[in-house]
Amino acid sequence: MAQAPTLALVTGAARNIGLEVVRQLAAKGMTVILTARDADQAQSAAASLVASGLKVVSHPLDVTDASSVSALVDWVETEYGRLDVLVNNAAGFADWMEKPSTADLKAVQALMEINLYGSWRVTQAFLPLLKKSAHPRLVNVSSGAGSHGEMQFGLNTNGGSSASYGISKAALNALTVKFAAELAGTGVLVNAVCPGLTATAPGMEAMGARPIPEGAASIVWAATLPDNGPSGGFFRDGQPLPW
Ligand SMILES: NC(=O)c1ccc[n+]([C@@H]2O[C@H](COP(=O)([O-])OP(=O)(O)OC[C@H]3O[C@@H](n4cnc5c(N)ncnc54)[C@H](OP(=O)(O)O)[C@@H]3O)[C@@H](O)[C@H]2O)c1
Repeated sequence: MAQAPTLALVTGAARNIGLEVVRQLAAKGMTVILTARDADQAQSAAASLVASGLKVVSHPLDVTDASSVSALVDWVETEYGRLDVLVNNAAGFADWMEKPSTADLKAVQALMEINLYGSWRVTQAFLPLLKKSAHPRLVNVSSGAGSHGEMQFGLNTNGGSSASYGISKAALNALTVKFAAELAGTGVLVNAVCPGLTATAPGMEAMGARPIPEGAASIVWAATLPDNGPSGGFFRDGQPLPW
């Protein structure tokens, strides 16, 4: 690369996979903007990384709030004038028992507001700054739960459980493809990534979940693709996943 990407932003990053993505990107020498709904949580998560010598700054961001998004865009534009890497990591989860036939549609809408419209809103807002980067990368953190062909948690499995979560991630995958098609030839590489089942809550190791650094690395791969890397794909650990 003539000039490597040096400025990244991660949503929903005060804990778990998002926080580890920030740490791994910063460990590659990038300045990373760590965002979270709660300004204090964002600040204290960033402080722990700064204390280990990494270049991390914090800013509040609620992906469901257009004014919060535009305040952050204004701040990034003033401070840096561009953005190289955007990782849409923020997400909500559905109750495991939720079935499509009985799901509370208000809860479904609230989840879509974060997982689909939140990522869409943040992407629209940051696109002008991404287009100012020499190596722009957009990563939508998706899930095998949104896949038609993933055999453990995919759309066809588990009797339709956790319906709105899988549907939200399938929609996020479709959004990824639409953005990739619109941005083809602009240099912006747009991909969806599943971190794999990752141990972000007690007891998940017993279900076969892997350590957080491994899940995060799956995302960092797509955030640091070379200019001739793929766009419009769905990946886990750098390997294509079935849609
Ligand atoms: N863990 C897994 O096994 C797994 C598997 C496949 C995919 N994923 C995906 O990986 C990503 C990270 O998952 P995780 O397990 O690390 O989950 P997590 O610990 O629940 O992290 C999700 C983050 O999103 C934030 N968030 C929720 N609503 C938000 C909003 N309106 N605005 C801004 N931030 C918001 C949460 O912040 P608050 O603290 O404010 O709630 C939280 O920090 C998600 O996209 C998830 O779908 C995870």
